[in-house]
Amino acid sequence: MAKTAMITGASSGIGEALAFHLVEKGYSLALTARNIGKLEEIKEKVAKENRSSKVVVRKLDVTDTGDVFTAVEELAGQLGGLDIMIANAGIAQAVHVGRGEFENARQTIETNVIGAMATIDAATAHFLSRGKGHLVGISSVAAFRGMPRNSAYCASKAGIAMYLEAVRAELFRKNIDVTILYPGYIDTPLNNMLKSRPFLITVEKGAEIIARLIEKRVKSSTVPVFPWNIVGRLLKILPTGAISKM
Ligand SMILES: NC(=O)c1ccc[n+]([C@@H]2O[C@H](COP(=O)([O-])OP(=O)(O)OC[C@H]3O[C@@H](n4cnc5c(N)ncnc54)[C@H](OP(=O)(O)O)[C@@H]3O)[C@@H](O)[C@H]2O)c1
Repeated sequence: MAKTAMITGASSGIGEALAFHLVEKGYSLALTARNIGKLEEIKEKVAKENRSSKVVVRKLDVTDTGDVFTAVEELAGQLGGLDIMIANAGIAQAVHVGRGEFENARQTIETNVIGAMATIDAATAHFLSRGKGHLVGISSVAAFRGMPRNSAYCASKAGIAMYLEAVRAELFRKNIDVTILYPGYIDTPLNNMLKSRPFLITVEKGAEIIARLIEKRVKSSTVPVFPWNIVGRLLKILPTGAISKM
């Protein structure tokens, strides 16, 4: 039987590109996001890649945590069970601390932390009942060091990575794997307004690497692995003065 995966935030960027890679590999998919029109378009295109894969779509705002639990049950039922949950939905907004922009910070934490935690909790309930599963969280290299104007985003990505580490320890020997991915700059609408995007890769390349890392069930990895595995370590030790100019 085909492997099944659910992707949150599949209407754009990494989630959308990953859907194509997973369908090519023979997966059946549940794709969710708030923009259902975009998901319907993607479903049509993705289905053409592999006619034997089943693709279902559903409108889901991950900040509506009650609906996250309902959606996971519904979609798992439609696919005959879920093997992999990819908690990918996320936002990135520049936030200047102390300048009346706190609403952006709150939304960032609600989406990237609370929304992703609800997604992981709902999937874990399903996996515990099946006795197997694979949780995948999309953190960021922004989790490695707090950067100016990105306080809420960095906090959200460090927070969800630490949450997943704890989940991994709690689920030890429960036959549920946990993969934490830390992408660098991948060319998507999330960051295409930025002037500087070091070591940028295309979204197709990023999704290809992510699909490969998921299939290998790695515990954690930067995306791409090099140079971010080295740069990530450097970021942690750079003096604050250098970080403040970034
Ligand atoms: N691109 C990068 O360089 C990069 C680097 C590190 C980490 N990441 C992470 O990768 C993930 C995907 O980002 P991306 O670059 O592909 O950005 P993107 O193109 O802007 O896609 C973000 C996706 O998240 C969905 N989303 C946003 N808020 C949501 C909500 N409240 N409920 C449900 N879905 C929501 C969006 O769909 P709707 O608007 O239709 O809901 C969209 O499908 C994010 O978690 C991001 O932080 C990206």
